[in-house]
This record gives sequence, C-alpha cells and structure tokens, in this order.
Amino acid sequence: MRTYLVTGGAGFIGSNYIHYMFRKYGGSIRIINVDALTYAGNLENLKDVENQDNYTFIRADIRDREAIEKIFAENDIDRVVHFAAESHVDRSIRNPEIFVETNVLGTLVMLNAAKKAWELPDGTYKEDKRFLYVSTDEVYGSLEEGDTYFYETTPFAPHSPYSASKASGDMLTKAYWDTYRFPVNITSCSNNYGPYQFPEKLIPLIINNALQGKKLPVYGDGKNVRDWLYVDDHAKAIDMVQEKGRLGERYNIGGHNEKQNIEIVNIILETLQEMLSEDDPRKALVSKDLITYVEDRKGHDRRYAIAPDKIKEEIGWYPETMFKEGIRLTIQWFFEHEDWMKNVTSGDYQKYYEEMYQVK
Ligand code: NAD
Ligand code: DAU
Repeated sequence: MRTYLVTGGAGFIGSNYIHYMFRKYGGSIRIINVDALTYAGNLENLKDVENQDNYTFIRADIRDREAIEKIFAENDIDRVVHFAAESHVDRSIRNPEIFVETNVLGTLVMLNAAKKAWELPDGTYKEDKRFLYVSTDEVYGSLEEGDTYFYETTPFAPHSPYSASKASGDMLTKAYWDTYRFPVNITSCSNNYGPYQFPEKLIPLIINNALQGKKLPVYGDGKNVRDWLYVDDHAKAIDMVQEKGRLGERYNIGGHNEKQNIEIVNIILETLQEMLSEDDPRKALVSKDLITYVEDRKGHDRRYAIAPDKIKEEIGWYPETMFKEGIRLTIQWFFEHEDWMKNVTSGDYQKYYEEMYQVK
C-alpha cells in the first residue's frame, strides 16, 4: 500500500486534496497528515475521514527537524505532498518573519528529512519515491499591460514577502534535483476557490460578509486580475503530476479563468441572489451597495494568468470545472456549513479582521 505524507492537510487545499485522494483511491492508499494547526489549520475539515484506518493525523511543525525525521523513520513514506505554508499575502505584509521560517526553513527541513530517509549508500534513492512542492503562480511576479501568460520558463520576480518566501522554497526544491537528483516535482498553481477556504481570502470573505450585510472591501480600483481554479481540479492535477510528471520538472496549473476582482464580487452577489430563496432573510441583505473600495494592498500584483499548456500536453490535465458551476458549488457548501464559518470566524479571526480592515 502506497503511503502519502501530506503536510498542511488541515488547511484549505490540503484537506480538499485528502478528500479527493480518498475518493479516488479508497482503501488502497494510506495518508499521514502532518499539520501544526496554525490559525489556518482546522481538523473539522477532515471529520469525515478521521476514523479511517488508512488515515493518520500527526500534529507537528515542519520547522521541527526531530519531529519530522521521526515520522520518516517510523513510516515508509512513498510520496510527500508539501502544502504546509503561511499562505496569505496580506499577513505576510504585516509579519514577514513567520513566512520565511515556515515557507523557506520548513521546506528545507522537509527536503532534508525525505532525502535522509530515501537515500541509498550509493547516492541514488529508493525506488518510486517522490516529493512534490506546492508552489504558486505568484513566484512569477505580475503581468502588466501587453504581457501574455506565465509559462514554466517565465523568470521569477516575486514581490510580496509571501511570494518571495514561496519562491525560495521552490528554488530550494529545484536545487535538490539539480544538485542531488533528489526526485522532486514542483507545481505552480493559480488562485484556488472552493469548500473549506478560510475567509481571509477574497471569495469566502465576500460570501461571508454579503450574507451578513457587511461591507465588501475591494482593494484599489478592483481591476486586479486573478486566474481562478476550482480546488478539486488542483487536487487532481497534483495527483497526475506525481504519477505522470517527469522528475525535476515544474508544471503550471491554471483555470483559464481570468477575472477582475470586481467581476468576482459581482458574480458572487448575483449568484447569492439566485440561490437564496424568497423567504430567506439574508436575501434582503445581499446588495451591490455593500461594495466598498478600500486602500490598495501594498505592492499589489496587477494580473496573474497561467498557461497550463505543458501539463495538458505532457500529462493530459486540464481544468474541468467552469467558474459558473464552481462558484455555485462553493456557495452551496457555505450554505450547508454555517457552523464551520461561525467556528472559524470566532475568536482570533475577529481580531485579525478588525486590525486588517480597521473595521471598514
Ligand atoms: P492554508 O493557509 O489554508 O493552509 C495551510 C496549512 O498549513 C494549515 O493547515 C496550517 O495549519 C499548516 N501550517 C502552517 N504552518 C505550518 C508549519 N510550520 N508546520 C506544519 N503545518 C503548518 O493554505 P492553502 O490555501 O491551503 O495553501 C496550501 C499550499 O498551496 C500553500 O503552500 C500555498 O502557498 C499553496 N498555494 C495556494 C493557492 C491558493 O489559492 N490558496 C494557490 C497556489 C498555491
Ligand atoms: O495566485 C495564487 C495565490 O492566490 C496563492 O499563492 C495564495 O496563497 C492565495 O492566498 C492567493 O493569493 P491572492 O493574494 O491572489 O488571494 P486573495 O484572496 O488574498 O486576493 C485575491 C485578490 O482580491 C487580490 O487581488 C486582492 C483582492 N482582495 C483580497 C481581499 C482579501 C480584495 O480586493 N479584498 C479583500 O478583502
């Protein structure tokens, strides 16, 4: 039975990936989820799998070398899927240090622990072992007027402390292939959306605020562009890259779905109006009057857009979920999980929100 070590599995993409993998492979794989449970990690995301024999949760910090080495020593790991990271750009602007510690040094700990466990005396590696670093399109910087897309060959030009830290982890991973022929892949994905996304990110924040009749903060002129991908499509791409990708290679993953932020906000408001029944009191609260332009994010990247040609040609992956369908699935999930939202927005979230938006 193949064993996966998933880091950051209690977060947004990690938990969706674990669900996807169990749906696809059932009892034929084992998953060990290693997560420190920061503000972004939530075991509620995995309630439905927590009692499965082939699922284990270990609370550990990826910066803790001893703890990570122990996990490798006690388990014969075949696949590492490394999601764990500090993931929010706005937080990185306010507090960069933890981003370097987790995203750079934590990644180094993961690489070294896997290398130590998999390396044979002759410097080659045990058969069929793979390490995948989940990177981001933000490492490529920002597209400006007249630019086309991000390709795998686009030079790195990260701007935020978040993207600079992800770029460092990304380059370290590539260095382990270049230097040691350690078996890695890197995936650079565009903006994800879907169930379990923490409401500090645009889409769940707008859904949550709109349903409460709270202001909808739009940074700057609202015309920054992101390329949105439904999270299940990302999970599928990661699995396909690990099984079919060429070692040492990077694959871009994107939704072919560029939208300005203000378009996203408007689509959410229209979709909420369509989906809420006439007798639901929240229907009267959802209004375009809530849209509030606020101060721009510092160093705000203008446009991200991925060319996912290589992954399509070499591996056969393409984005399957149209935005219209994905946003309905997402909103439906939030309708059905009001308690989840209440739980994650109590306590520390309130403090963050008040400081971040100065209760705009
Ligand atoms: P998230 O913030 O929702 O989850 C991150 C998880 O990592 C949490 O469960 C958290 O507890 C855990 N974690 C954080 N620090 C840790 C540490 N030191 N040790 C162990 N666990 C730790 O993030 P996400 O949006 O699910 O993103 C997952 C990965 O995908 C990240 O590497 C991110 O850079 C990358 N990514 C995200 C997107 C996106 O749109 N969200 C797009 C492309 C790439
Ligand atoms: O592109 C991939 C990246 O996407 C990932 O690597 C990051 O982990 C992930 O957080 C995401 O980064 P963004 O900064 O693009 O996502 P966010 O949801 O924070 O913001 C999306 C856009 O919406 C961005 O242009 C900023 C804007 N925004 C965001 C928030 C939270 C607003 O206008 N208002 C808001 O309140």
